[in-house]
Amino acid sequence: MGNINDVADLSTEGEIAVLTLNSPPVNALSAPVREGIFEGIKKAAADSAVKAIVLICDGRTFIAGADITEFGKKPTGPSLFDAQDMIENASVPVIAAIHGTALGGGLEVALTCHYRVAVPSAKCGLPEVNLGLLPGAGGTQRLPRIVGPEKALEMVTTGQHVPAKKCLEMGLVDELAEEGKLREGAIAFAKKVVAENRPLKKVREMNGKVEAARGKPEIFENFRKSIARKTRGFLAPEYNIQCIEAAVNKPFDEGIKVERELFTKLVTGEQSAAQRHVFFAERQVWKVPGIDKDTKRIPIEKVGIIGAGTMGGGISMNFANAGIPVTIVERDQAPLDKGLATIRKNYENTAKKGRISMDDVEKRTGLIQGTTDMKALADCDLVIEAVFENMDVKQDIFRQLDEICKPGAILATNTSALDIDEIASVTKRPEAVIGLHFFSPANVMRLLEVVRADKTSKEVIATSMDLAKKIGKIAALVGVCPGFVGNRILAQRQREANKLILEGAMPWDVDRVLYDFGLPMGPFAMSDLAGLDLGWRKENSKGETIRDVLCEMDRRGQKTGAGFYDYDENRKATPSKIVEDIIKDFSEKKQIQRRDISDQEILERCVYPMINEGFKILEEGKAIRASDIDIVWINGYGWPVYRGGPMYYGEKIVGLDKVLAKMQEFQKAHGDDFEPAALLEKAVKEGKSLSELGY
Ligand code: COA
Ligand code: NAD
Repeated sequence: MGNINDVADLSTEGEIAVLTLNSPPVNALSAPVREGIFEGIKKAAADSAVKAIVLICDGRTFIAGADITEFGKKPTGPSLFDAQDMIENASVPVIAAIHGTALGGGLEVALTCHYRVAVPSAKCGLPEVNLGLLPGAGGTQRLPRIVGPEKALEMVTTGQHVPAKKCLEMGLVDELAEEGKLREGAIAFAKKVVAENRPLKKVREMNGKVEAARGKPEIFENFRKSIARKTRGFLAPEYNIQCIEAAVNKPFDEGIKVERELFTKLVTGEQSAAQRHVFFAERQVWKVPGIDKDTKRIPIEKVGIIGAGTMGGGISMNFANAGIPVTIVERDQAPLDKGLATIRKNYENTAKKGRISMDDVEKRTGLIQGTTDMKALADCDLVIEAVFENMDVKQDIFRQLDEICKPGAILATNTSALDIDEIASVTKRPEAVIGLHFFSPANVMRLLEVVRADKTSKEVIATSMDLAKKIGKIAALVGVCPGFVGNRILAQRQREANKLILEGAMPWDVDRVLYDFGLPMGPFAMSDLAGLDLGWRKENSKGETIRDVLCEMDRRGQKTGAGFYDYDENRKATPSKIVEDIIKDFSEKKQIQRRDISDQEILERCVYPMINEGFKILEEGKAIRASDIDIVWINGYGWPVYRGGPMYYGEKIVGLDKVLAKMQEFQKAHGDDFEPAALLEKAVKEGKSLSELGY
């Protein structure tokens, strides 16, 4: 038999043919893989000595899906449909042998096989929704025919990877093979199929489960309601649901037509392009020039945290969750006890929701020790400082750490805005100092800004990035500058939001526009949630800002029942007449002629300066690449994934020339807050994309 092409090999074991695909890293369905399947199955089935065919993959996984890099390009060679038809219509049974992950097109190929065998560690899923797509190779029509529409709805709208054992229960997999012995197991299963003369089971003909759901539209209506909040703004979940509906209500071939039509809409649309960008950005972000697998890592077996406040507590939980012991140091017993009690309460609440067991609560709290003695940090491999945001306090702590900590330990700060070079400068080991900027709540938010200071060593950076992955974060490496990447960009939006309400908009107008754009909430709702008095002191207040006035009136946000909005007992917000009057009064005092401000202007005034700031960050080298900035804003601030992040949005959705023109127009009208970044001007002038410019 032998080679079919570079990625497919056909061999035989008695009367069983084995078609092996090998296309690293994940056996994605590129043109050669499709050709390998098409020609391989054709050749095996044409051999009268072959009684069954096993389709298996080498490497880390079964086919992990369509080749995402091929989307939007003209396909060559046999289509996936051709390959699937070849399998489904083969004259002998084809058995998919699954290890790793059978995802997307991979599972759709497996679903055209007549049987499926998997090792227990394997997982199956249709994750297309996460790329703004739907399974476009029959997945939405075949999956519900096996697992029923309810389970199919869940799988296609979440993209979850379902473990093999569960697949077996759902009938998606016919048999489990012993771990590590997939080939043998699949061949044995194939022999059984032949010996028992089992039929060529075609999923497309299994109509029982879809017919049972016919005439029950409530299944879909209820499901839509249940996911509405999570999927706000996204097109793909709804299109996936419509496909499952078609599977239930139409014959297979009609259903396939619906799937094709909706898939085409999605794959050529703006959202999916943005979501595919994010998929690759999430993988790029880990790559740091000058650091590779040979860069030395520092083993992190014990972590110290200083400060048991909001951040210290949350940060500690991340490590305890990953099984790493933590020592928390506080200045006094009382804040320490309070901090530890909060941690315990948080875990207990998670347990109440059923997400962890009470056993886990004990295990995790057991990994967290509290003390008021800094010397307890002597044997920690990493110490993260999370005390008050004050340079003197932080420098004092780093001086002590320099004395106490063992050589080679990483000394990190969670500062939001202070100059980490200045903090490092008080130690004799600035190479060991780094910023680990967690976001609040630190045990929940996925983003970690890893802030490299002037002298931070490669080992310390590499270890920090690895550790971030280990504790389930997505980390972006950024440089020292006010606010780093995330908050620096946020400051642009905040400034404009505050100006807009003096010029004529109301806080709820600004919030509505940004919410409708897809952000989880607008700047004023966010202030109310965080507390308007965050960093505000009565004794320093001069009543010069709207915030000063609101705080003085004890309108300090949700916690006082009023802020920019009024809140009822369920924390439901309504616009406040009092605030409206205060704002109008302010405009008058500042002699600002209020005017009607369109939603479009609100959006452009808030968002374009953010994009512009991203360009400044790039030209200053404070982020490695534009897509890292996207990752920061998606994971730290809830930028809608379907708009790809601020940099992607500016470049691919709005267009840089438009962003620049608006910035220039705003600069004329409103001054130098809108001064365009030199790099933005250069990109437009030279007609080059960010990636062409090396970002
Ligand atoms: N097409 C093209 N490239 C793909 C790919 C796909 N479907 N899936 C993964 N890759 C690439 C990644 O970009 C990465 O490339 P890099 O090493 O150059 O950065 C490499 O394969 C490994 O992927 P990674 O995610 O880092 O590995 P992992 O072992 O953590 O996860 C998967 C493996 C398969 C679970 C994961 O890559 C995944 O979920 N892929 C997408 C699957 C999917 O959505 N399929 C449906 C497509 S329609
Ligand atoms: P916090 O006031 O809730 O907690 C600070 C804790 O540090 C307090 O419990 C205090 O008792 C303790 N502390 C002060 N001095 C100490 C010392 N010398 N030794 C030991 N403990 C000491 O503050 P927070 O919100 O957790 O912020 C901590 C740091 O994290 C700040 O640098 C802040 O800028 C940063 N940060 C905060 C957020 C946020 O949203 N809260 C987000 C990112 C980063």
